[in-house]
Amino acid sequence: MNGIRIKGMGMCVPSHIVTNDDLAQIVDTNDEWITTRTGIKTRHHIGADETLHDITVKAAKDALKNSGVTADQIGACIVATMTPDTIMPSAACRLQEELGLPNDIPCFDLSAACTGFLFALHTMECLLNASPRKYGLVIGAEHLSRVTNWSDRSTCILFGDGAAGAVVECREGWRSICADLGCYGDNQVLKLPGIGMKEAGQISMDGQQVFKFAVQVVPHCIDQVLSRTGYTVDEIDFFVFHQANARIIDLAAKKYNIPPEKCCKNIAEYGNTSAASIPLVLAQLYEEGKLKSKCRALLVGFGGGLTWGGALVEFV
Ligand code: ACO
Repeated sequence: MNGIRIKGMGMCVPSHIVTNDDLAQIVDTNDEWITTRTGIKTRHHIGADETLHDITVKAAKDALKNSGVTADQIGACIVATMTPDTIMPSAACRLQEELGLPNDIPCFDLSAACTGFLFALHTMECLLNASPRKYGLVIGAEHLSRVTNWSDRSTCILFGDGAAGAVVECREGWRSICADLGCYGDNQVLKLPGIGMKEAGQISMDGQQVFKFAVQVVPHCIDQVLSRTGYTVDEIDFFVFHQANARIIDLAAKKYNIPPEKCCKNIAEYGNTSAASIPLVLAQLYEEGKLKSKCRALLVGFGGGLTWGGALVEFV
């Protein structure tokens, strides 16, 4: 299979910022607890005058502009999200209309919680191998503040909103992203009930169980991706882990001796934005001019499902 590489990144976060002190006004918590247990200081929330669609469009337009690819060159569009404004039409179909993407391409949403961007990259690689067009749009976007239980202090402090994504290119002879993806179906530890359920609309989580799951699965994904690509830790330019908890990221960095400048974190500012979290880190690195041509980033996502995924992305 021919591989994909990232040609350009884009992002958009809502302007409304919620601090730990703000949350201490609504639940029994404090800045010290949240900072030491999670690494989060602020998160951005979509306000009453904005929708997920608005920020998704801005992120997608940014990615297209930065990549120099035009809408008519796009061969598929995937939005990884579990919080679309409307189930139907999908967030991706609304992007197709707004951006003027071709009519004869697949545009759809993908639901894999915090692993969504990894599942979407792998799916895009498969789709572009079968498409006459060689560019794809992959966005991760979430409106988690809409599905947060504001009386549960163990989860409401974690989540933020945002959108970010990549224009990817597929070429003959390029190495695959070597995605390692998996699921372990579990309907208890991490849930967001849908419209068919009485308790629809709010996330619940057994934090300790998810933490244990995460510290097992992150090394598994790193090992799998290194073994599939043949790269060593030293040959990777950036490690981008799902931003769920700074302690999970720090444990992985310590285990693999990853220096701080290669282990990227933006959780302090954005919190856990689920499917948007990994592309938000990549887009920030891109904006800072750090993602040079041939640069390699090892990505690891994990979360609801339970799902996990790792992949190695390179930059055009
Ligand atoms: N402020 C103050 N105290 C709190 C808060 C809070 N916001 N939340 C919980 N506590 C209390 C608890 O009540 C408990 O008190 P007790 O000992 O008197 O019972 C104490 O702090 C310890 O609670 P724990 O749940 O053990 O805290 P922990 O250190 O495990 O941190 C956390 C909780 C941050 C949720 C952590 O478990 C975690 O990060 N888990 C992983 C989350 C994750 O990776 N999610 C990814 C997927 S998310 C997705 O897919 C959408």
